[in-house]
Amino acid sequence: MKNMNFEALFLGPKAENRDFFKEILNFVVDEHIHWRRNFHPDDVPSITLADQRREDFIRTQQKTQEVILQLSSLLKKSSIPWHSPRYVGHMTSDILMPAHLAYMFTMLYNPNNVAWEASPETTRLEIEVGRDLAQLMGFDRETAFGHITSGGSLANVEALWIARNLKSVPLAIREIQPELVAGLSERELQHLSPARVLGLVDVLKERMTEIKERSVRGRGLKPFQLGKIFLPETKHYSWVKAADLLGIGLENVVQVRVEENYRMDMTDLEMKLQQTVDAGDPILAVVGVVGTTEEAAVDPIDKIIELRSEFEKQGVSFYIHVDAAYGGYARSVFLNEESQFLPYEELLDTLDEKSIITKNFGWPSTQVYNAFKAVAEVDSVTVDPHKLGYIPYQAGAVVFRDRRARQLISYFAPYVFSEDDADSNSLLLGSYIVEGSKAGAAAAAAWTAHQVLGLNVEGYGKIIGEGIEGAQRFYQHICEEPLIRVGDRSFRIAALTEPDMNIIVYALNEESNNSLEQMNDLNRRIKEKLCFSPNKSVYVYDFMVSSTTLEHAEYGDQPQKFLDKFGIPESEWEASHEVFVMRSTIMSPYLTEDFTDVDYLGQFFQNLEKLLQEIIKEE
Ligand SMILES: Cc1ncc(COP(=O)(O)O)c(C=O)c1O
Repeated sequence: MKNMNFEALFLGPKAENRDFFKEILNFVVDEHIHWRRNFHPDDVPSITLADQRREDFIRTQQKTQEVILQLSSLLKKSSIPWHSPRYVGHMTSDILMPAHLAYMFTMLYNPNNVAWEASPETTRLEIEVGRDLAQLMGFDRETAFGHITSGGSLANVEALWIARNLKSVPLAIREIQPELVAGLSERELQHLSPARVLGLVDVLKERMTEIKERSVRGRGLKPFQLGKIFLPETKHYSWVKAADLLGIGLENVVQVRVEENYRMDMTDLEMKLQQTVDAGDPILAVVGVVGTTEEAAVDPIDKIIELRSEFEKQGVSFYIHVDAAYGGYARSVFLNEESQFLPYEELLDTLDEKSIITKNFGWPSTQVYNAFKAVAEVDSVTVDPHKLGYIPYQAGAVVFRDRRARQLISYFAPYVFSEDDADSNSLLLGSYIVEGSKAGAAAAAAWTAHQVLGLNVEGYGKIIGEGIEGAQRFYQHICEEPLIRVGDRSFRIAALTEPDMNIIVYALNEESNNSLEQMNDLNRRIKEKLCFSPNKSVYVYDFMVSSTTLEHAEYGDQPQKFLDKFGIPESEWEASHEVFVMRSTIMSPYLTEDFTDVDYLGQFFQNLEKLLQEIIKEE
């Protein structure tokens, strides 16, 4: 949407847009009431006025009211104030008002997107959202397939489910129609490219049932050697769950080292892939992350694509998935209204001219730019509306470049839809995905937000870009003013890396201290004052952040380089192998002065100084 004013898109930190919100809410409730009443208007009311005056009726309503009030006080006491620019913690913030209203409106109708029959309209909207997300990723919206999931975890499970089933298909085809794969060795069959396997499936689509029976789906894991999946050390733990659930086995999950910027180390990936091939093991999939959970680091997806091309020269291909559960919607920063990926210089100019991200920040780096661009070439992507899509829970999503892939996991439950409809009617969602019953309201919310904003730099890109600039400013502040003085004591603040997106990880240490234990202790004490604790009212916090621990088991020795910035010696790292850090996700568009008269970012750093004073007093 050109000239979008996003102050009109949120209820607002102080519910500034409450009149509009209530007006639309009243309208949607009225609409729903009319709808109920208009269905067979001649039917007499089932609940009469006399019923409503009965004592037990009134008592029952009172009970509802009392419990709702109780719930309200519970929620107000300890809900996390995502809506406030003072909340800079986990990957969530105020949600888009259009999405919120659409969700509440649709919920009244309670559509179930398991099947078209239970949700004639919202299933269609979900398919539309899938197409929007496919287009956002650079896929062809007509030949791709995407849908909403309960979250990023399940989206990852589904992608791995498809990759796993796909891997066993060539061997199944060899049994059914050997001439189709004549001349290919066992090793070559294990390493056919996903595109080629789907092409073969297409040729044999009439015999899909036989393929399924002879692939891992019918026979189980035993007859197949499915191989390993390669993920960066920064991976989300849903991948381990997925490998466990799908019988791939955790010993087949290979962790690829990360570089100093917490992006996947391509030399390590190449080495590990080659070792696997040399050992005669198949490569099941490589997963790159766009927006890692802790750091929002962006893996070099372009380089993963290049590496696959290189391996294909030795007859080895593999499935590539991108876990952009967090970062996926940020691709809208790079797209114009025609969904074209902007050339690099034009992008920098556009972001600057539109006051989204000042050119001085030099964001994005060419590495980040190339990685986002290359997402268009992978096999599937996880991209969650309930993260950077600013949609209420639950709305994850997964998108497959080639919709034929869903054949590999499709099932039919005859009581909700008939198998005969499968090809002609793609609205039978429950047959192609992990989940069965699912909220149509989530699809309606995402669809409404996409319609209002647009998945490009004029819409979503503007909001997300604002957060990216917020993180850059945060980083700049830390770099320019690394020392916080409290009386005669001096504390250093440093960032783990320059943020690739809108999450920044940082820690503090007293200048004179070179003990890691003491440094961790200081940061834990700061965290206690900035992270929610169930023992305290949420109203006592001036700002809220999240925290995490960088451990050797996950990150190898990479955190040691961070400790160098504080003068903590290597021996200290060797002794404890963990660094406690703070983490701030900048999703609130209201953090910087651009949109409010208050400099919340400036206040955040002043508040840190105040907390250090308190900690000194408590010593
Ligand atoms: C990169 C990444 N993938 C997957 C997930 C899992 O998403 P969900 O919590 O929606 O299941 C997350 C959650 O933070 C994530 O950051």
